[in-house]
Amino acid sequence: MFKNKVIVITGSTQGIGFKTAEMLLNRGARVVINSRSSEKVTNALNSFEKFSPNVIGLAGDVSNYEFCIALREFAIKKFGQIDILINNAGVASSGLLKESVPDALEKVININLLGSIYPTMACLNDICKDRGSILFISSVAGIIGLPSYSQYSATKRAVISLAESLKSELIDYGVFVGINYPGFTENEEHKTIINSEGVEVRLSKRPGINALTREQTAGKIIEQLQKKKFRMYSSISAKIIQIIYNLLPNLTLRIVIYLRKKIISMQ
Ligand SMILES: NC(=O)c1ccc[n+]([C@@H]2O[C@H](COP(=O)([O-])OP(=O)(O)OC[C@H]3O[C@@H](n4cnc5c(N)ncnc54)[C@H](OP(=O)(O)O)[C@@H]3O)[C@@H](O)[C@H]2O)c1
Repeated sequence: MFKNKVIVITGSTQGIGFKTAEMLLNRGARVVINSRSSEKVTNALNSFEKFSPNVIGLAGDVSNYEFCIALREFAIKKFGQIDILINNAGVASSGLLKESVPDALEKVININLLGSIYPTMACLNDICKDRGSILFISSVAGIIGLPSYSQYSATKRAVISLAESLKSELIDYGVFVGINYPGFTENEEHKTIINSEGVEVRLSKRPGINALTREQTAGKIIEQLQKKKFRMYSSISAKIIQIIYNLLPNLTLRIVIYLRKKIISMQ
């Protein structure tokens, strides 16, 4: 089903996006990769080109609308169409809100929210033309607001609302819109988060967390595109959290409050 499809994956030079790109290239797709760092784009292209010629990449910030237009033009110029957009670029945040500076919030909101809206706006006409797909990567942290992840949870929840709005808006165009909820996934060596001072810092491996592999999380993204399911959870526990939240939102919040010290210490 992916053979020759043109798939733009934002934030795909490492982590979940990189693995998703690799797995889609192995399925015959033509993939456009991206991230802000040109060095990372070049390195990722070098490793993909060893097994597929169908990959191109452009460095730039997807929270900048002009760059998103340039990314769309780059994909169209090289591949002639855009079938699927995976809004994967995102950044986690750490720190209590009372200790955070406004710049920290702005950065997280810009990357996680505008960085999903702007690529969508830029590629929308092409995707409508081809009755294609748009996938948003949210998080289990978007189901319920978690302590010390406030801006992350808020933006990942906002992305869910965005996907819901678009699902209605685009249904008459035959466009598939989906929202994916990864659980904790093993860290890439270079993974960074934005701390309460607004500085991007390396995230060390998270101890004591039973993380999913990147293959497992990317596999769920691909399965979702194949099955065209609006919501897809990368683990059973993520699905259970959603079910409990839907049935008993106040009880779920009480459980989070009970576990708050543990959740905060996981950062
Ligand atoms: N890992 C988890 O446990 C987990 C759990 C739930 C949800 N998620 C979500 O899954 C997605 C991928 O997570 P990950 O763990 O694979 O992250 P990651 O390892 O930090 O990779 C993020 C990628 O996005 C790029 N990026 C960041 N900001 C960007 C921007 N403004 N414009 C373009 N590219 C940008 C980064 O490269 P540059 O630095 O070069 O820009 C990198 O390639 C994110 O949306 C995240 O919130 C992850």
